[in-house]
Amino acid sequence: MGITTNPIGAEAAALLAAIHAESFPSNQAWDAEAIALMLGLPGHFGLLAQMDEAPAGFALGQAQSMEAEVLTLAVLPEARGKGVGQGLLTALLDTAAGRGAAEVFLEVAEANAPARRLYAKAGAHEVGRRRRYYADGADALVLRIDLT
Ligand SMILES: CC(C)(COP(=O)(O)OP(=O)(O)OC[C@H]1O[C@@H](n2cnc3c(N)ncnc32)[C@H](O)[C@@H]1OP(=O)(O)O)[C@@H](O)C(=O)NCCC(=O)NCCS
Repeated sequence: MGITTNPIGAEAAALLAAIHAESFPSNQAWDAEAIALMLGLPGHFGLLAQMDEAPAGFALGQAQSMEAEVLTLAVLPEARGKGVGQGLLTALLDTAAGRGAAEVFLEVAEANAPARRLYAKAGAHEVGRRRRYYADGADALVLRIDLT
């Protein structure tokens, strides 16, 4: 089973939106237009993970200063638990570090245990909370990963 992670641009927005729709509840899904717009913004980048050459997940990030950000990270349900998420996060952190970022911020739902463990393994720690951040009223935790 081979997992690869490579940069991807706005031309793949429809594919990324399809993965996002399968990975998040429908009221949180990002459409292709929004993803394409995001990938056109300065400092923003996309990463596509493939398992045995089939799309398995993706991440969007931005890194244009000392402070980078994970914008989204999604792995298709059938591809989970095999290291795809970890591969995407590692590639995103490497990209941010390569662009000179010193720290990476992200938001995660308090109840999202798989994501919280993935981020904790990468050294994330809680630095804040955004109350009622998600459409369902759940709080988001703000996490920071130090790159240096
Ligand atoms: C969170 C998500 C990206 C993880 O992707 P994944 O490919 O399954 O993760 P990996 O297989 O690389 O696992 C990496 C680590 O994450 C944690 N993890 C993954 N799935 C987990 C689960 N079901 N329960 C607990 N921890 C889990 C573990 O710490 C795991 O490392 P370990 O196996 O050595 O213990 C995936 O579940 C997903 O897309 N969820 C829906 C979208 C989402 O919540 N995105 C994050 C928004 S902030």
